[in-house]
Amino acid sequence: MKILVTGAAGFIGANFVYYELAKHPEDGIVGLDSLTYAGNLETLEGAAKDGRFRFAKADITDRAAVGRLFSEERFDVVVNFAAESHVDRSIEDPSVFLLTNIIGTQILMDAAKKYGVGRYHQVSTDEVYGDLPLDRPELLFTETTPIKTSSPYSASKASADLLVQAYQRTYGFPATISRCSNNYGPYQFPEKLIPLMIKNALADIPLPVYGEGLNVRDWLYVEDHCKAIDMILREGGAGEVYNIGGHNEMANIDIVKLILKYLGKPESLITFVTDRKGHDLRYAIDPAKITGALGWMPETRFADGLKQTIDWYLANKPWWENIVSGEYTRYYEKMYGNR
Ligand code: NAD
Ligand code: DAU
Repeated sequence: MKILVTGAAGFIGANFVYYELAKHPEDGIVGLDSLTYAGNLETLEGAAKDGRFRFAKADITDRAAVGRLFSEERFDVVVNFAAESHVDRSIEDPSVFLLTNIIGTQILMDAAKKYGVGRYHQVSTDEVYGDLPLDRPELLFTETTPIKTSSPYSASKASADLLVQAYQRTYGFPATISRCSNNYGPYQFPEKLIPLMIKNALADIPLPVYGEGLNVRDWLYVEDHCKAIDMILREGGAGEVYNIGGHNEMANIDIVKLILKYLGKPESLITFVTDRKGHDLRYAIDPAKITGALGWMPETRFADGLKQTIDWYLANKPWWENIVSGEYTRYYEKMYGNR
């Protein structure tokens, strides 16, 4: 099978490339990425040594470039991870989120349709369902929970989902969608909660917790997400939506305290800062459909996954130290300077 993985130089895309190369020796992968601030070719150095992988630098919003790649390669499967992915950046400036996440998806689907791709998979998010109250622990997101978005990021992802479903219904386009909860693990850009807190703790600088730190996220180790997508590609039904999550809800403040404890750093580093605008209170996924239909179950317990992740950041300092210079420094100052 020849697979196009877009957003391959980002966090989950790169983890997925490594997962597929290890799991399916018979498959070939083309990793496409435009290398925005979030894309890092260093992450793919290991894959580049494998003859079954090639990297293509291209922007999914560039119709001509996407068309050329599809005509050269004749993909069997497309998995679209490419996106602007950070909620805080979408609050600062939504424009690029609409362009990449919505128009980019349309352009990819048009190419997949034209070249007869057998399966297109859209990597979506639980954020399309909005949020749940903190005091109703019995409520979970199912695939039939209404779409109700909070941020420009989630609105752009929901728009893409609707477009994928419209292509499926109108053209019989062979698409699937997955909506996963918060991922953590190696290669995550240190603008997101867990790697940002690890990085700051190691530098003995304040750990900026939004509001009172009581917002809840449902954390999944990235490899478990990759495994779920792999199963959907091979066994999932065209036209289906699958929620992915491992029943692992945690308040932000508790995660930050666990990181400090593991690193032997004091809780006095925690600084409560102005809350995120429109901050979603709680996400919680009901994964019953993917478990029942495909037999997917998460394998990594949070305590183990968090330790593995912290150990990875400790062992791979050059990877993130290269990142946290230049544009990142300006970003950090802008977002956290006067917060
Ligand atoms: P990321 O920001 O780490 O990576 C995104 C990648 O897409 C980067 O390598 C970037 O260079 C690339 N990209 C951005 N715009 C592009 C464009 N126009 N053309 C080509 N490449 C482009 O994001 P991530 O956390 O790996 O998320 C991947 C996907 O998974 C996204 O679609 C996101 O919405 C979804 N998702 C993420 C999470 C999470 O917790 N991180 C959870 C559920 C779903
Ligand atoms: O749920 C899936 C989503 O998870 C994905 O679709 C997004 O791409 C991904 O970025 C993530 O979104 P979140 O907004 O939940 O992740 P983030 O790491 O930005 O924040 C997690 C929680 O931590 C959230 O409640 C905000 C809080 N936070 C975040 C940062 C960066 C802080 O308190 N301080 C911070 O500095």
